[in-house]
Amino acid sequence: MTKDMETWEKENGVKFLRKVGLRPGHIVLDFGCRVGHYTIPAAKIVGNNGIVYAVDKEQQALNEMQQKATHLNLKNIRTIKTSGQTTLDFESESIEVVLFYDVLHYHEQKEREKLYVEAYRVLKQDALFSVYPKHILEDDPLQEFRRLSLSDVKREIEASNFVFEHKFCDLISHDDSLNQGCVLNFRKQE
Ligand SMILES: C[S@@+](CC[C@H](N)C(=O)[O-])C[C@H]1O[C@@H](n2cnc3c(N)ncnc32)[C@H](O)[C@@H]1O
Repeated sequence: MTKDMETWEKENGVKFLRKVGLRPGHIVLDFGCRVGHYTIPAAKIVGNNGIVYAVDKEQQALNEMQQKATHLNLKNIRTIKTSGQTTLDFESESIEVVLFYDVLHYHEQKEREKLYVEAYRVLKQDALFSVYPKHILEDDPLQEFRRLSLSDVKREIEASNFVFEHKFCDLISHDDSLNQGCVLNFRKQE
């Protein structure tokens, strides 16, 4: 891991996710966590009374993350390997923060809508849904996502009953380096 990414996981990622709203004791679901550039800082914030469920379809990425977690003596990360399905295998209203960071571009509109419905189902009332929509029109466009602007993604998520709360832009982790990016926070509200 580069020095930048070490510092990110140790310090700047922790500061950023605190700003986003993670707190000690939170139960977090990091969907599409890869090697844990957000999972590790999240686990540091939530501490021993919290849990981070780290979900990915790539076992090798999960192994790499677990190795880092073991080295750092972080015991509150539960890795979950899936087949890449768009259902979230969690009880309804069991999670306090869902992170969809740099993962939505893997999915076409119908799948994304299914993922939003699932995020809504698993989140507790008033809980936080935080999304980093990388690879949109104005940020390194890719796949179907290349046609959507940040406002389009925001509208898409609001259409799934979430209430938009805040946008955070900063120098944040993308793949294995840092870039300027924006995260959107939503709340589950009836
Ligand atoms: C570009 S990486 C982002 C990793 C991490 N969230 C971050 O921002 O550093 C996307 C990850 O999502 C995973 N992924 C994509 N679709 C998935 C799905 N339906 N279920 C589980 N994992 C998925 C990929 O395997 C990959 O590791």
